Amino acid sequence: MQLTDKNIVVGVSGGIAAYKSADLIRRLKEQGANVRVVMSEGGKAFITPLTLQAVSGNPVSDSLLDPEAEAGMGHIELAKWADLILIAPASADIIARLNAGMANDLLTTICLATAAPIAIAPAMNQQMWHTQVTQNNVDSLQSRGYLVWGPGQGEQACGDVGFGRMLEPTELCSYCVNYFAGANKPGELDGQTWVITAGPTREPMDPVRYISNHSSGKMGFAIALAAQLAGAKVYLIAGPVKLATPTGVERIDVETALQMQEQSMAHAEHADVFVACAAVADYRVAEVASQKIKKSTEQLQLVLEKNPDIVAGVAALENAPFTVGFAAETENVEEYALGKLKKKNLQMICANNVSAPGHGFNSDTNALTIFWSGGSLVLPLTSKQELARQLVGQIAKKFNQSPLDAS
Ligand code: PMT
Repeated sequence: MQLTDKNIVVGVSGGIAAYKSADLIRRLKEQGANVRVVMSEGGKAFITPLTLQAVSGNPVSDSLLDPEAEAGMGHIELAKWADLILIAPASADIIARLNAGMANDLLTTICLATAAPIAIAPAMNQQMWHTQVTQNNVDSLQSRGYLVWGPGQGEQACGDVGFGRMLEPTELCSYCVNYFAGANKPGELDGQTWVITAGPTREPMDPVRYISNHSSGKMGFAIALAAQLAGAKVYLIAGPVKLATPTGVERIDVETALQMQEQSMAHAEHADVFVACAAVADYRVAEVASQKIKKSTEQLQLVLEKNPDIVAGVAALENAPFTVGFAAETENVEEYALGKLKKKNLQMICANNVSAPGHGFNSDTNALTIFWSGGSLVLPLTSKQELARQLVGQIAKKFNQSPLDAS
């Protein structure tokens, strides 16, 4: 319950992403927040006030000129009540109206009347996002202290691909948690460079087949987001996953372990912290067939050769960053994790019991036990976003105490 007693006004403007607002509100409430919803006319075209009333547990406000509503929680009261206003989705239209200082509906009026911080989660077609006037509006809002969370990248409802997707509700919820926890205060990890690997690798057998694993990238992406929110410059070296790039994070897409190794070594040389969350394939096919392998025999034998150990290579660099590994284990978790900590010469290892329900690969939740020389800490089962926030805090603490930092 990271948002207990926080009063959050969720503003819903017009856009297809408005359907995600219900989930966002649910997640904010799960974290203990009090949520009141304000909808624009456009927002109501995409999701009904009744739905948002049901999930928020409060009446939804949508009219500036409704005498009944103004007699109750009027716009000034709502503006004063809020600890944070989060507009999600924020359409190009509302961004423009906020920038112009307009007060032509309830949502924009509350934004003018509040002293609370205002965050926008942009959601629009990628061309609308990139167009100069939208970018100018966003820059201008940012320079006036608005928080801009997103947009993410990926396939859009209109069929386009690119920036303009609203961040996922879980991601926006972490932004709120981080905001109130002060973990995104400028300066927390200011000046630090973090390199994080995430997702699986794919080792090709032939032009159409590969060896891989079930890593979704969620854990590594959550760590990248948490480090970025805390002020670090973050490079995220991602295997093939279908996740939006966390805002402000520089993403480098790779497929194979060798490609991940090349990018990791190149970026780790200049990094303060390296976190190896990726599930790297230990072996690759020795000879990749140039054509599709035909099923002409009863048995097929593949010769596999060992991939280089990326995290061990980073830890062995002359100017090695503070290096954190993961250990995905199904048995003897502590013993194997401690073995990897030592063998790979790491500063910290995150033991991940991937056989427990709700833990590890492709789940939305996870738990870790982190080990370092002379100590350990259990981070209990929670969302990957929250776990990442706690882990980044622990790494930052140990990094600041580490002799590497002093050098
Ligand atoms: O991506 P998700 O679906 O969110 O799932 C998260 C996760 C389960 C993948 C993640 O929490 C996790 O446990 N990652 C480590 C997975 C793994 O491959 O562990 P390992 O015990 O096999 O490897 C030990 C360490 O060596 C890891 O830091 C790994 O990144 C690194 N390694 C492994 C092999 C290799 N060739 N190079 C490496 O750097």
